[in-house]
Amino acid sequence: MFDLLIRGGTLATASDVFQADIAVKDGVIVQIGRDLGEARNTVDASGRYVLPGGIDSHVHISQPSGEGIVMADDFESGTRSALFGGNTTVMPFCLQRKGEGLRSALSDYHALAEGNCYTDVSFHLIVSDPSPQVLGQELPALVEDGYTSLKVFMTYEDLRLSDAEILGVLDTARRTGALVMVHCENEDAIRYLIGRHEADGDVAPKAHATTRPIAAEREATHRALSLAEIVDVPLVIVHVSNRESMEEIERARRRGRKVIGETCPQYLMLTAEDLDGMDWEGAKFVCSPPPRDKASQDACWDGIERGVFDLYSSDHCPFRYDDPAGKLNPKGRESFRHIPNGIPGVETRLPILFSEGVMKGRIDLPRFVVLSSTNHAKTYGLYPKKGTIAIGADADLAIWDPAATRTIRHADLHDASDYSPYEGLEVTGWPTTIIRGGAVVVDDGVLGEGARTGRYVPRDRSSLAGPTETDVEQSSTGGIR
Ligand code: URP
Ligand code: ZN
Ligand code: ZN
Ligand code: ZN
Repeated sequence: MFDLLIRGGTLATASDVFQADIAVKDGVIVQIGRDLGEARNTVDASGRYVLPGGIDSHVHISQPSGEGIVMADDFESGTRSALFGGNTTVMPFCLQRKGEGLRSALSDYHALAEGNCYTDVSFHLIVSDPSPQVLGQELPALVEDGYTSLKVFMTYEDLRLSDAEILGVLDTARRTGALVMVHCENEDAIRYLIGRHEADGDVAPKAHATTRPIAAEREATHRALSLAEIVDVPLVIVHVSNRESMEEIERARRRGRKVIGETCPQYLMLTAEDLDGMDWEGAKFVCSPPPRDKASQDACWDGIERGVFDLYSSDHCPFRYDDPAGKLNPKGRESFRHIPNGIPGVETRLPILFSEGVMKGRIDLPRFVVLSSTNHAKTYGLYPKKGTIAIGADADLAIWDPAATRTIRHADLHDASDYSPYEGLEVTGWPTTIIRGGAVVVDDGVLGEGARTGRYVPRDRSSLAGPTETDVEQSSTGGIR
Protein backbone atom coordinates (compact mmCIF):
# COMPACT_ATOMS: atom_id res chain seq x y z
CA MET A 1 0.00 0.00 0.00
CA PHE A 2 1.47 3.36 -1.09
CA ASP A 3 0.98 6.61 0.82
CA LEU A 4 0.15 8.61 -2.29
CA LEU A 5 -0.56 8.02 -5.96
CA ILE A 6 -0.44 10.84 -8.52
CA ARG A 7 -2.49 9.61 -11.45
CA GLY A 8 -2.94 10.54 -15.09
CA GLY A 9 -0.52 13.46 -15.35
CA THR A 10 2.02 14.38 -17.99
CA LEU A 11 5.44 14.20 -16.32
CA ALA A 12 8.42 16.29 -17.34
CA THR A 13 12.05 16.00 -16.29
CA ALA A 14 15.20 17.68 -17.56
CA SER A 15 15.22 15.25 -20.49
CA ASP A 16 11.76 13.77 -21.08
CA VAL A 17 8.04 14.44 -21.25
CA PHE A 18 5.84 11.35 -20.78
CA GLN A 19 2.59 10.05 -19.33
CA ALA A 20 2.90 8.08 -16.10
CA ASP A 21 1.61 7.70 -12.56
CA ILE A 22 3.86 8.25 -9.53
CA ALA A 23 3.72 6.19 -6.34
CA VAL A 24 5.07 7.66 -3.09
CA LYS A 25 5.97 6.02 0.19
CA ASP A 26 7.62 7.61 3.24
CA GLY A 27 8.13 10.87 1.41
CA VAL A 28 10.04 9.34 -1.47
CA ILE A 29 9.11 8.37 -5.05
CA VAL A 30 9.06 4.55 -5.15
CA GLN A 31 7.50 3.77 -8.53
CA ILE A 32 6.83 5.51 -11.85
CA GLY A 33 4.64 3.78 -14.41
CA ARG A 34 1.10 2.49 -15.02
CA ASP A 35 -1.30 0.45 -12.85
CA LEU A 36 0.93 0.84 -9.82
CA GLY A 37 -1.60 -0.40 -7.24
CA GLU A 38 -3.41 1.03 -4.24
CA ALA A 39 -2.63 4.08 -2.13
CA ARG A 40 -4.13 5.75 0.91
CA ASN A 41 -4.47 9.03 -1.01
CA THR A 42 -4.77 9.78 -4.72
CA VAL A 43 -4.27 13.01 -6.65
CA ASP A 44 -5.84 13.19 -10.11
CA ALA A 45 -3.39 15.04 -12.36
CA SER A 46 -5.10 14.42 -15.67
CA GLY A 47 -4.83 17.33 -18.06
CA ARG A 48 -1.99 18.76 -15.96
CA TYR A 49 1.80 18.67 -15.90
CA VAL A 50 3.63 17.02 -13.04
CA LEU A 51 7.03 18.70 -12.63
CA PRO A 52 9.84 18.52 -10.06
CA GLY A 53 9.08 21.07 -7.33
CA GLY A 54 10.74 24.39 -8.09
CA ILE A 55 14.01 25.20 -6.33
CA ASP A 56 14.71 28.92 -5.94
CA SER A 57 18.39 29.10 -5.11
CA HIS A 58 18.51 32.89 -4.67
CA VAL A 59 16.11 34.43 -2.15
CA HIS A 60 16.54 36.86 0.73
CA ILE A 61 14.41 36.28 3.82
CA SER A 62 14.72 38.09 7.17
CA GLN A 63 18.07 39.48 6.10
CA PRO A 64 19.16 42.34 8.37
CA SER A 65 19.54 45.72 6.63
CA GLY A 66 20.83 48.97 8.11
CA GLU A 67 19.14 52.28 8.97
CA GLY A 68 15.86 50.89 10.34
CA ILE A 69 14.95 49.12 7.11
CA VAL A 70 13.06 45.85 7.59
CA MET A 71 12.72 43.08 5.03
CA ALA A 72 9.05 42.34 4.39
CA ASP A 73 9.24 38.54 4.53
CA ASP A 74 10.20 36.27 7.35
CA PHE A 75 10.47 32.50 6.84
CA GLU A 76 6.75 32.03 7.38
CA SER A 77 5.53 34.45 4.71
CA GLY A 78 8.51 34.03 2.38
CA THR A 79 8.30 30.25 2.13
CA ARG A 80 4.48 30.29 1.96
CA SER A 81 4.71 32.62 -1.02
CA ALA A 82 7.39 30.39 -2.56
CA LEU A 83 5.21 27.30 -2.11
CA PHE A 84 2.22 28.87 -3.86
CA GLY A 85 4.55 29.75 -6.73
CA GLY A 86 5.39 26.09 -7.34
CA ASN A 87 8.55 25.80 -5.21
CA THR A 88 9.34 23.08 -2.70
CA THR A 89 12.84 24.25 -1.75
CA VAL A 90 14.33 27.73 -1.35
CA MET A 91 17.88 28.80 -0.60
CA PRO A 92 18.12 32.05 1.39
CA PHE A 93 21.29 33.80 2.49
CA CYS A 94 22.67 33.79 6.01
CA LEU A 95 24.53 37.10 6.44
CA GLN A 96 27.72 37.28 8.47
CA ARG A 97 27.73 40.48 10.54
CA LYS A 98 31.02 42.38 10.43
CA GLY A 99 33.30 41.47 13.31
CA GLU A 100 31.34 38.31 14.04
CA GLY A 101 31.72 34.74 12.94
CA LEU A 102 29.70 32.56 10.59
CA ARG A 103 28.54 30.08 13.25
CA SER A 104 26.75 32.69 15.35
CA ALA A 105 24.99 34.07 12.26
CA LEU A 106 23.94 30.55 11.33
CA SER A 107 22.55 29.71 14.74
CA ASP A 108 20.46 32.92 14.73
CA TYR A 109 19.26 32.22 11.20
CA HIS A 110 18.33 28.61 11.95
CA ALA A 111 16.32 29.83 14.95
CA LEU A 112 14.31 32.11 12.66
CA ALA A 113 13.61 29.28 10.21
CA GLU A 114 12.91 26.48 12.68
CA GLY A 115 9.24 25.45 12.60
CA ASN A 116 8.30 28.31 10.26
CA CYS A 117 8.90 26.92 6.77
CA TYR A 118 6.38 25.86 4.15
CA THR A 119 9.15 24.71 1.82
CA ASP A 120 12.37 22.89 2.53
CA VAL A 121 15.24 25.33 2.99
CA SER A 122 19.01 25.28 2.71
CA PHE A 123 21.25 28.26 3.42
CA HIS A 124 24.01 29.96 1.49
CA LEU A 125 26.42 32.05 3.56
CA ILE A 126 27.25 35.70 2.85
CA VAL A 127 30.87 36.37 3.80
CA SER A 128 31.21 40.07 4.69
CA ASP A 129 34.29 39.80 6.91
CA PRO A 130 36.79 37.22 5.66
CA SER A 131 39.12 37.23 8.66
CA PRO A 132 41.90 34.64 8.97
CA GLN A 133 39.77 32.85 11.58
CA VAL A 134 36.77 32.71 9.22
CA LEU A 135 38.74 31.53 6.20
CA GLY A 136 41.17 29.31 8.09
CA GLN A 137 38.86 27.54 10.50
CA GLU A 138 35.15 28.36 10.41
CA LEU A 139 34.46 28.08 6.71
CA PRO A 140 36.28 24.75 6.13
CA ALA A 141 34.40 23.21 9.07
CA LEU A 142 31.08 24.56 7.81
CA VAL A 143 31.63 23.12 4.34
CA GLU A 144 32.07 19.72 6.01
CA ASP A 145 28.76 20.33 7.80
CA GLY A 146 26.90 20.89 4.53
CA TYR A 147 27.08 24.69 4.13
CA THR A 148 28.72 24.34 0.75
CA SER A 149 28.04 27.67 -0.96
CA LEU A 150 28.59 31.32 -0.18
CA LYS A 151 28.10 34.73 -1.74
CA VAL A 152 30.48 37.66 -1.87
CA PHE A 153 29.68 41.21 -2.96
CA MET A 154 31.75 43.59 -5.09
CA THR A 155 29.24 46.38 -4.34
CA TYR A 156 27.28 47.89 -1.42
CA GLU A 157 29.38 50.02 0.95
CA ASP A 158 28.81 47.76 3.94
CA LEU A 159 29.27 44.40 2.18
CA ARG A 160 31.81 44.80 -0.63
CA LEU A 161 35.07 42.92 -0.42
CA SER A 162 38.34 44.07 -1.94
CA ASP A 163 39.90 42.01 -4.74
CA ALA A 164 42.46 40.69 -2.23
CA GLU A 165 39.69 39.62 0.13
CA ILE A 166 37.80 37.94 -2.72
CA LEU A 167 40.97 36.04 -3.67
CA GLY A 168 41.23 34.84 -0.08
CA VAL A 169 37.66 33.56 -0.18
CA LEU A 170 38.16 31.90 -3.57
CA ASP A 171 41.33 30.21 -2.38
CA THR A 172 39.48 28.82 0.64
CA ALA A 173 36.75 27.61 -1.71
CA ARG A 174 39.32 25.77 -3.78
CA ARG A 175 40.76 24.03 -0.72
CA THR A 176 37.38 23.07 0.72
CA GLY A 177 35.18 22.50 -2.33
CA ALA A 178 32.81 25.35 -1.48
CA LEU A 179 31.12 27.12 -4.38
CA VAL A 180 31.33 30.92 -4.55
CA MET A 181 28.59 33.18 -5.93
CA VAL A 182 29.53 36.76 -6.81
CA HIS A 183 27.49 39.96 -7.06
CA CYS A 184 29.36 41.79 -9.80
CA GLU A 185 29.14 45.60 -9.89
CA ASN A 186 32.00 48.11 -9.59
CA GLU A 187 31.38 49.89 -6.30
CA ASP A 188 33.87 52.74 -6.82
CA ALA A 189 32.35 53.64 -10.20
CA ILE A 190 28.86 53.55 -8.70
CA ARG A 191 29.89 55.72 -5.72
CA TYR A 192 31.40 58.24 -8.11
CA LEU A 193 28.24 58.39 -10.24
CA ILE A 194 25.97 58.64 -7.19
CA GLY A 195 28.01 61.58 -5.91
CA ARG A 196 27.73 63.34 -9.27
CA HIS A 197 23.96 62.78 -9.50
CA GLU A 198 23.33 63.96 -5.95
CA ALA A 199 25.41 67.08 -6.58
CA ASP A 200 23.15 67.79 -9.57
CA GLY A 201 20.01 67.26 -7.45
CA ASP A 202 19.21 64.22 -9.57
CA VAL A 203 17.90 62.09 -6.71
CA ALA A 204 14.72 60.36 -7.98
CA PRO A 205 14.55 56.53 -8.17
CA LYS A 206 15.40 56.54 -11.89
CA ALA A 207 18.95 57.68 -10.99
CA HIS A 208 19.45 54.29 -9.32
CA ALA A 209 19.57 52.80 -12.82
CA THR A 210 21.77 55.50 -14.38
CA THR A 211 24.33 55.27 -11.57
CA ARG A 212 24.67 51.49 -12.04
CA PRO A 213 25.43 51.25 -15.77
CA ILE A 214 26.06 48.05 -17.72
CA ALA A 215 29.79 48.84 -17.90
CA ALA A 216 29.99 48.72 -14.08
CA GLU A 217 28.47 45.24 -14.11
CA ARG A 218 30.48 44.03 -17.11
CA GLU A 219 33.79 45.22 -15.64
CA ALA A 220 33.13 43.55 -12.29
CA THR A 221 32.01 40.35 -14.02
CA HIS A 222 35.27 40.28 -15.96
CA ARG A 223 37.26 40.96 -12.79
CA ALA A 224 35.48 38.28 -10.74
CA LEU A 225 36.05 35.73 -13.51
CA SER A 226 39.72 36.72 -13.70
CA LEU A 227 40.17 36.37 -9.94
CA ALA A 228 38.59 32.90 -10.08
CA GLU A 229 40.89 32.01 -12.94
CA ILE A 230 43.96 33.14 -10.98
CA VAL A 231 43.00 30.81 -8.13
CA ASP A 232 41.49 28.16 -10.45
CA VAL A 233 38.00 27.70 -9.00
CA PRO A 234 34.51 27.50 -10.53
CA LEU A 235 32.31 30.56 -10.05
CA VAL A 236 28.62 31.44 -10.03
CA ILE A 237 27.82 34.84 -11.54
CA VAL A 238 24.46 35.77 -10.05
CA HIS A 239 21.67 38.02 -11.37
CA VAL A 240 23.14 38.86 -14.79
CA SER A 241 21.20 41.69 -16.46
CA ASN A 242 22.68 42.26 -19.91
CA ARG A 243 24.47 40.95 -23.00
CA GLU A 244 27.93 42.35 -22.25
CA SER A 245 28.14 40.51 -18.93
CA MET A 246 26.85 37.37 -20.65
CA GLU A 247 29.67 37.71 -23.16
CA GLU A 248 32.22 37.78 -20.32
CA ILE A 249 30.78 34.48 -19.09
CA GLU A 250 30.93 32.93 -22.55
CA ARG A 251 34.50 34.13 -23.10
CA ALA A 252 35.58 32.65 -19.76
CA ARG A 253 33.96 29.34 -20.71
CA ARG A 254 35.87 29.34 -24.00
CA ARG A 255 39.04 29.64 -21.92
CA GLY A 256 37.95 26.45 -20.19
CA ARG A 257 36.59 28.01 -17.02
CA LYS A 258 33.68 26.47 -15.11
CA VAL A 259 31.17 29.30 -14.84
CA ILE A 260 27.54 29.09 -13.79
CA GLY A 261 25.36 31.95 -14.99
CA GLU A 262 22.15 33.09 -13.33
CA THR A 263 19.46 35.51 -14.46
CA CYS A 264 16.16 36.58 -12.90
CA PRO A 265 12.65 37.54 -14.03
CA GLN A 266 13.29 41.26 -13.55
CA TYR A 267 15.87 41.22 -16.35
CA LEU A 268 13.42 39.48 -18.69
CA MET A 269 10.35 41.56 -17.86
CA LEU A 270 11.29 45.03 -16.52
CA THR A 271 13.30 47.97 -17.82
CA ALA A 272 14.89 51.09 -16.31
CA GLU A 273 11.80 52.98 -17.50
CA ASP A 274 9.87 51.26 -14.73
CA LEU A 275 11.99 53.20 -12.21
CA ASP A 276 10.66 56.43 -13.69
CA GLY A 277 7.23 56.05 -12.06
CA MET A 278 5.20 59.00 -10.81
CA ASP A 279 5.75 60.28 -7.27
CA TRP A 280 8.46 57.83 -6.26
CA GLU A 281 6.53 54.74 -7.49
CA GLY A 282 9.73 53.88 -9.36
CA ALA A 283 11.18 52.86 -5.98
CA LYS A 284 9.15 49.66 -6.34
CA PHE A 285 11.57 48.56 -9.07
CA VAL A 286 14.86 49.48 -7.40
CA CYS A 287 17.10 46.43 -7.37
CA SER A 288 20.73 45.76 -8.23
CA PRO A 289 21.80 45.33 -10.91
CA PRO A 290 18.94 47.49 -12.20
CA PRO A 291 16.61 46.41 -14.99
CA ARG A 292 18.04 47.69 -18.30
CA ASP A 293 16.31 48.11 -21.66
CA LYS A 294 14.49 46.11 -24.34
CA ALA A 295 17.75 45.01 -25.98
CA SER A 296 19.01 43.66 -22.65
CA GLN A 297 15.73 41.82 -22.10
CA ASP A 298 16.11 40.20 -25.51
CA ALA A 299 19.71 39.28 -24.68
CA CYS A 300 18.68 37.66 -21.41
CA TRP A 301 15.94 35.67 -23.14
CA ASP A 302 18.55 34.59 -25.66
CA GLY A 303 20.76 33.49 -22.74
CA ILE A 304 17.85 31.52 -21.27
CA GLU A 305 17.30 29.76 -24.61
CA ARG A 306 20.96 29.12 -25.51
CA GLY A 307 22.19 27.96 -22.12
CA VAL A 308 24.35 30.95 -21.22
CA PHE A 309 22.21 30.86 -18.10
CA ASP A 310 22.16 27.67 -16.06
CA LEU A 311 20.01 29.15 -13.32
CA TYR A 312 16.86 31.23 -13.28
CA SER A 313 16.20 32.52 -9.75
CA SER A 314 13.95 35.19 -8.28
CA ASP A 315 16.46 37.17 -6.17
CA HIS A 316 13.34 37.72 -4.04
CA CYS A 317 14.37 40.57 -1.75
CA PRO A 318 11.11 42.10 -0.53
CA PHE A 319 10.57 45.48 1.06
CA ARG A 320 7.19 47.07 1.57
CA TYR A 321 6.61 50.14 -0.60
CA ASP A 322 4.29 52.27 1.51
CA ASP A 323 6.21 51.93 4.73
CA PRO A 324 8.77 54.10 6.56
CA ALA A 325 10.72 50.88 7.19
CA GLY A 326 10.73 50.04 3.45
CA LYS A 327 10.99 51.76 0.08
CA LEU A 328 9.39 54.99 1.39
CA ASN A 329 11.74 55.45 4.33
CA PRO A 330 12.36 59.15 5.09
CA LYS A 331 15.95 59.15 3.81
CA GLY A 332 14.93 57.21 0.69
CA ARG A 333 12.50 60.00 -0.14
CA GLU A 334 15.44 62.41 -0.11
CA SER A 335 17.67 60.36 -2.38
CA PHE A 336 17.49 57.12 -4.35
CA ARG A 337 20.73 56.17 -2.56
CA HIS A 338 18.69 55.23 0.53
CA ILE A 339 15.98 53.23 -1.20
CA PRO A 340 16.52 49.62 -0.13
CA ASN A 341 17.66 47.43 -3.02
CA GLY A 342 15.54 44.47 -3.96
CA ILE A 343 12.10 43.46 -5.18
CA PRO A 344 9.67 40.68 -4.36
CA GLY A 345 9.18 37.82 -6.84
CA VAL A 346 9.48 34.35 -5.34
CA GLU A 347 5.85 33.47 -6.15
CA THR A 348 5.78 34.91 -9.66
CA ARG A 349 9.18 33.56 -10.83
CA LEU A 350 7.93 30.29 -12.29
CA PRO A 351 4.53 31.43 -13.65
CA ILE A 352 6.42 34.13 -15.59
CA LEU A 353 8.88 31.65 -17.09
CA PHE A 354 6.12 29.16 -17.84
CA SER A 355 3.90 31.73 -19.54
CA GLU A 356 6.51 33.87 -21.30
CA GLY A 357 8.91 30.98 -21.93
CA VAL A 358 7.03 27.71 -22.46
CA MET A 359 3.64 29.01 -23.63
CA LYS A 360 5.23 31.53 -26.00
CA GLY A 361 7.45 28.82 -27.49
CA ARG A 362 10.82 30.25 -26.38
CA ILE A 363 11.74 27.13 -24.38
CA ASP A 364 10.36 23.61 -24.08
CA LEU A 365 9.15 21.92 -20.93
CA PRO A 366 12.42 20.07 -20.15
CA ARG A 367 14.33 23.36 -20.37
CA PHE A 368 11.77 24.88 -17.99
CA VAL A 369 12.45 22.01 -15.56
CA VAL A 370 16.21 22.50 -15.90
CA LEU A 371 16.00 26.25 -15.22
CA SER A 372 13.42 26.04 -12.46
CA SER A 373 14.69 23.04 -10.52
CA THR A 374 17.24 20.53 -11.85
CA ASN A 375 20.20 22.87 -12.31
CA HIS A 376 19.67 24.47 -8.91
CA ALA A 377 19.86 21.01 -7.32
CA LYS A 378 22.93 20.04 -9.34
CA THR A 379 24.78 23.30 -8.79
CA TYR A 380 24.30 23.39 -5.04
CA GLY A 381 24.58 19.71 -4.10
CA LEU A 382 20.91 18.75 -3.67
CA TYR A 383 20.74 16.38 -6.65
CA PRO A 384 19.36 13.71 -7.15
CA LYS A 385 17.38 13.84 -3.90
CA LYS A 386 15.85 17.00 -5.31
CA GLY A 387 15.51 18.50 -8.79
CA THR A 388 14.10 15.50 -10.64
CA ILE A 389 11.35 12.89 -10.78
CA ALA A 390 13.08 9.57 -10.18
CA ILE A 391 12.80 6.52 -8.00
CA GLY A 392 14.43 7.32 -4.67
CA ALA A 393 14.08 11.10 -5.05
CA ASP A 394 12.13 13.19 -2.53
CA ALA A 395 8.49 13.39 -3.62
CA ASP A 396 8.68 17.17 -4.21
CA LEU A 397 6.30 17.89 -7.08
CA ALA A 398 4.41 20.82 -8.58
CA ILE A 399 1.29 20.05 -10.59
CA TRP A 400 0.71 22.76 -13.18
CA ASP A 401 -2.52 23.60 -14.97
CA PRO A 402 -1.31 24.83 -18.37
CA ALA A 403 -4.74 26.22 -19.20
CA ALA A 404 -5.14 28.38 -16.09
CA THR A 405 -5.04 32.07 -16.99
CA ARG A 406 -4.39 34.73 -14.40
CA THR A 407 -3.73 38.40 -14.10
CA ILE A 408 -1.01 38.87 -11.51
CA ARG A 409 -2.37 40.92 -8.60
CA HIS A 410 -0.47 41.39 -5.38
CA ALA A 411 -3.74 40.87 -3.50
CA ASP A 412 -3.72 37.24 -4.68
CA LEU A 413 -0.09 36.54 -3.71
CA HIS A 414 1.09 35.25 -0.34
CA ASP A 415 4.16 37.32 0.55
CA ALA A 416 4.20 40.10 3.15
CA SER A 417 5.20 42.91 0.81
CA ASP A 418 2.52 45.34 -0.34
CA TYR A 419 3.03 45.25 -4.11
CA SER A 420 4.21 43.12 -7.01
CA PRO A 421 6.48 44.55 -9.72
CA TYR A 422 4.42 42.44 -12.15
CA GLU A 423 0.98 43.81 -11.19
CA GLY A 424 -1.38 43.42 -14.14
CA LEU A 425 0.75 40.95 -16.10
CA GLU A 426 -1.40 38.27 -17.72
CA VAL A 427 0.00 34.76 -17.54
CA THR A 428 -1.09 31.36 -18.80
CA GLY A 429 -0.28 28.34 -16.63
CA TRP A 430 -0.18 28.17 -12.84
CA PRO A 431 0.95 25.58 -10.25
CA THR A 432 -2.27 24.47 -8.58
CA THR A 433 -1.27 21.50 -6.42
CA ILE A 434 2.04 21.16 -4.58
CA ILE A 435 3.42 18.02 -3.00
CA ARG A 436 6.42 18.29 -0.68
CA GLY A 437 8.05 15.21 0.83
CA GLY A 438 5.00 13.18 -0.26
CA ALA A 439 2.51 15.46 1.56
CA VAL A 440 -0.10 17.44 -0.40
CA VAL A 441 0.73 20.89 0.96
CA VAL A 442 -1.30 22.92 -1.56
CA ASP A 443 -4.41 21.21 -2.89
CA ASP A 444 -6.04 23.00 -5.83
CA GLY A 445 -4.88 26.37 -4.53
CA VAL A 446 -5.77 25.67 -0.89
CA LEU A 447 -3.05 25.42 1.77
CA GLY A 448 -3.08 21.94 3.31
CA GLU A 449 -3.12 21.32 7.04
CA GLY A 450 0.32 20.69 8.46
CA ALA A 451 1.95 22.44 5.48
CA ARG A 452 4.37 24.43 7.67
CA THR A 453 6.64 21.44 8.08
CA GLY A 454 9.45 22.22 5.66
CA ARG A 455 12.84 20.97 6.76
CA TYR A 456 16.41 22.20 6.65
CA VAL A 457 18.47 20.29 4.08
CA PRO A 458 22.26 20.05 4.48
CA ARG A 459 24.07 19.72 1.18
CA ASP A 460 26.84 17.87 -0.57
CA ARG A 461 29.60 19.77 -2.31
CA SER A 462 28.70 20.95 -5.78
CA SER A 463 29.55 18.39 -8.42
CA LEU A 464 31.30 21.28 -10.21
CA ALA A 465 33.87 21.85 -7.55
CA GLY A 466 36.00 18.82 -8.39
CA PRO A 467 38.27 17.08 -5.90
CA THR A 468 39.61 19.25 -3.10
CA GLU A 469 43.11 19.15 -1.60
CA THR A 470 41.71 17.15 1.33
CA ASP A 471 40.24 14.58 -1.07
CA VAL A 472 43.53 14.33 -2.94
CA GLU A 473 45.45 13.78 0.32
CA GLN A 474 42.98 11.08 1.31
CA SER A 475 43.17 9.25 -2.00
CA SER A 476 46.98 9.35 -2.04
CA THR A 477 46.89 7.55 1.30
CA GLY A 478 44.42 4.99 0.03
CA GLY A 479 41.19 6.72 1.09
CA ILE A 480 38.07 6.40 -1.02
CA ARG A 481 35.94 9.40 -1.93
O1 URP B 1 18.78 44.47 -5.29
C1 URP B 1 19.00 43.36 -4.92
N1 URP B 1 19.24 42.40 -5.78
N2 URP B 1 18.98 43.06 -3.62
C2 URP B 1 19.22 41.81 -3.08
C3 URP B 1 20.62 41.64 -2.67
C4 URP B 1 21.43 41.18 -3.82
O2 URP B 1 22.30 41.91 -4.23
O3 URP B 1 21.22 40.08 -4.32
ZN1 ZN C 1 23.35 40.41 -5.31
ZN1 ZN D 1 20.99 61.39 -14.12
ZN1 ZN E 1 20.18 38.59 -4.14
